[in-house]
Amino acid sequence: MRGDAWRASWAEIDLAAIRHNVRTLVERCTPADVCAVVKADGYGHGAVAVARAALKGGAAWLAVALVEEGIALRHAGVDAPVLLLAEPPAAAMGAVRAAALTPTLYTTAGVAAAAAAASGQAPLTVHLKVDTGMHRVGADPADAVALAQAIGEAPGLRLGGTWTHLAVADEAGQASYTATQLGRFDAVVGDLRAAGVDPGLLHAANSAAALTVASSRFDLVRCGIAVYGYSPVALPDGWPPLQPALSLRSRVSLARSLAAGERVSYGLRYALKTDSVVATVPLGYADGVPRRLSAVGGEVLIGGRRRPIAGTVTMDQLMADCGPEADVAAGDEVVLLGRQGDKEITADDWAGRLDTIAYEILCGISKRVPRVVRDRA
Ligand SMILES: Cc1ncc(COP(=O)(O)O)c(C=O)c1O
Repeated sequence: MRGDAWRASWAEIDLAAIRHNVRTLVERCTPADVCAVVKADGYGHGAVAVARAALKGGAAWLAVALVEEGIALRHAGVDAPVLLLAEPPAAAMGAVRAAALTPTLYTTAGVAAAAAAASGQAPLTVHLKVDTGMHRVGADPADAVALAQAIGEAPGLRLGGTWTHLAVADEAGQASYTATQLGRFDAVVGDLRAAGVDPGLLHAANSAAALTVASSRFDLVRCGIAVYGYSPVALPDGWPPLQPALSLRSRVSLARSLAAGERVSYGLRYALKTDSVVATVPLGYADGVPRRLSAVGGEVLIGGRRRPIAGTVTMDQLMADCGPEADVAAGDEVVLLGRQGDKEITADDWAGRLDTIAYEILCGISKRVPRVVRDRA
C-alpha cells in the first residue's frame, strides 16, 4: 500500500512515457513545433507534471481550454508559451495579460476586450481562430481579414498566429472533409497575406492529423491524446509505439470463496458459474470506473490474469470473479488500466466496450483517485 494515503487505489502517471511520446511527435513532425495540450488537468494525468515532462520532451508550446488552467500553470512556475484554445470572457482579459497567456480570438467583441486589457502595456500576442468546418468556435472565414486588421490596428495587440481545428482527422473515411477544411484554411491565409497581414504561426493539426496528414502540420501541431500515449488513428509505418502514461491500480480489500450460483452486487445480475474466489476492489464509479463496464465484459488484472468484473460496479467498490481456488488474497495488486506481467488493459479497451473514446475514459478518472507521479531515468 502507498505510504502517504490510506486509500489503496491510485493512478500512476509515468513521466518517461510522456517524454517519449512528445519526443516521438517532435521527431516525426519536424520542422513543425509541438504544442502539448494539457487542458482538463492534462487529460486527467495532472497538468503541471505533464507540462513539465512535455517541455523536457521537446514541446515548444502548451495549450489549455480555460484561463484558470493557464493561470494554474503559471502559479506552478511553468513559463513556456500557453495558448488558450477558446476566446476568454471579456472580464478575464486582464488576468490573461497578467499571466502572459496567449488568447485565441474570433469575435470583434473579443478583439475589443483584449485590446482594452492590453492598451498601455507591452503588446499582448493573440492567435486568430478560423472556423473551417468544425462549427464549434472560430471566425467565419469571410470575417478573418477584418478581424486580423482590427488586431493589427489595436496598439496593444500583436497577431502571433492563425489557426483552425479539424473535425474528422481521426476518421479514415473522411479524408476529403479534412482536405476541404485545410483548403479553406489555406484560402484564409492567402487572403490575410493579400491584405498585407502577417498571419503569424499557422496551426491546424490535432494528434490524428499530426500523425497522418503531413500537409496539416504547418508551424505547430497541437497534440493531446498522443502525448498521453494513445493514437486515435492507426500509427503510421515507422512510428515507434506510443506509451500510455496512466495506469489505474488498487489492492484487493477482501477476498472470499462463494458457492456456484451465488449472485454478486446490486441487482444480483451476476451469478457465479462455479465455486469462486470473489475479490473486492476499492474503486467504483465515483472514481471514474463506469458503472456499465461490468455489463460489457470489463475485466481487471490480478495475479497476472484477467478476471471478469462480477456484477454492477458500485460507487466506491467493484468485485472481480477470480474463479475456483484462485490464489488471491487481500492486499494483492489489482490493475484496472495498465500492465501486470505480460497482460495489459488500456483506455482503448474500455472505450471499445463502452462505445466511447479513450479521451473520455482518461478525463473521467476522478479527483478522488490520488495521482502518483513516477519517473524512470
Ligand atoms: C482546439 C484543439 N486542438 C487540439 C486538441 C488536441 O486534440 P487531440 O487530443 O486529439 O490531439 C484539442 C482537443 O480536444 C482541441 O480542442
